Amino acid sequence: IAAKQLYDGPELSELVSEEGDFVHRRTFTDPAVYELEKKHIFGRNWVYMGHESQLEKHGDFITSFIGETPVIVARGNDGEVHVNINSCSHRGVPVCRADQGNTKRFVCPYHNWSFTVEGELAAIPQERKVCNKPNKEELGLQKVPRVDSYRGLIFACMDAGVEPLLEHLGDMAWYLDCMFDRFDGGIEVIGPPHKWLINANWKLPVENQLGDVGHGPYLHGSLLEQGSPAVTELEEYGHNVVPKPGHGVAVRLMPEDSHEEQRLFGMDGIAAFDPEVADYLKQCHQKVAERLGEVRSRLKPLCYSVYPNLSFLWPNMTLRTSHPKGPGQVEYWSWFVVEKNAPEHIKQKLRVNYTMMFGPGGLLEGEDSEAWSQQYSGSNIDYADNKRFYYGLGMGEAEEHPELPGMVGSCFDEHYARDFYRHWQQQLIKGLQGEQDND
Ligand code: FES
Ligand code: FE
Repeated sequence: IAAKQLYDGPELSELVSEEGDFVHRRTFTDPAVYELEKKHIFGRNWVYMGHESQLEKHGDFITSFIGETPVIVARGNDGEVHVNINSCSHRGVPVCRADQGNTKRFVCPYHNWSFTVEGELAAIPQERKVCNKPNKEELGLQKVPRVDSYRGLIFACMDAGVEPLLEHLGDMAWYLDCMFDRFDGGIEVIGPPHKWLINANWKLPVENQLGDVGHGPYLHGSLLEQGSPAVTELEEYGHNVVPKPGHGVAVRLMPEDSHEEQRLFGMDGIAAFDPEVADYLKQCHQKVAERLGEVRSRLKPLCYSVYPNLSFLWPNMTLRTSHPKGPGQVEYWSWFVVEKNAPEHIKQKLRVNYTMMFGPGGLLEGEDSEAWSQQYSGSNIDYADNKRFYYGLGMGEAEEHPELPGMVGSCFDEHYARDFYRHWQQQLIKGLQGEQDND
């Protein structure tokens, strides 16, 4: 496709090679590519909004973003989750400024128009002083047309014609169940989230958590030395899986003759020095085979990413979203996630452990955030503009697996990234083609 009218750089078809083994650095830096992403990636895909544990009562709400578009996600009086654009229908001012809360009305601070939690316009204070009667039914907040959830994870989509959420997830659902269908009482997201700005493209954190296992013993060398038991286990039993192009998971599948101690995971670090946490993890693990089957009782996930911008890290149980703020900035949100029925003091211990490792100043998170911002800077330098980055490790090696759904490669196979960027590129090309057909 010739995209030259909109985009002064390599054509979209040249950004990612046919096999996905080379990705152009302008994929991460070009403002014109970013504009296309806002329309054709964030405007067309299911985007994660929040978890049902954050919206238990009528009037509970959280705020979020679809791309850069601010939205309010609220539990209506009808019991349904409603997603509306957070922009007053009078002059565009945001009608909600809180991260989360409970309310009967969203009241715009400018002229005090007020809106129901479902997004309908409830009252115009100035209306009594004028003769005409505005049609309030036409003046509600703009609705996001599609909202659905899977195991408590709420997603929304700007495109009314999008495929059903379950189709979008494909085999990713089998892996999501490992956490979100693991406990009888379900899970709880503890919020509001940690938020921090990183001078990096939004895709870099996602790519990392699709399955970038290879950086562990190097970038995090002070905690995860080469040859340490955790690293050896990963090399021996680890797999990078693409459940469906765009999504990715890194897991360890322990052998059938492994004993229970080897299968335990989650909070690996803290369990080693806190016997109470170790006991709690054992109790949790005993229920897994019954709920999720024998294979998943041997599965030790490490990280997940759900296309386009939701990620999950297992060892410290954290959900995170990459909210784009331009090609070179991402606002990263991170929540701690825990079994809802876990004892309070265990929740507290696990939460402190999560913050120490993966909060904004966390031992591991700080190293990753710094790497992503340097990766972005390194993608944005002069005289290197025609070089493409190499994503070819493990080319052609992924295959079907007798126990794991999806395409399965070794833990160093970069097929997760090749499939992500190819899928991303196809969506941009299709979107741009649609724009040109409409002209
Ligand atoms: Fe919201 Fe005027 S801008 S009431
Ligand atoms: Fe890391």
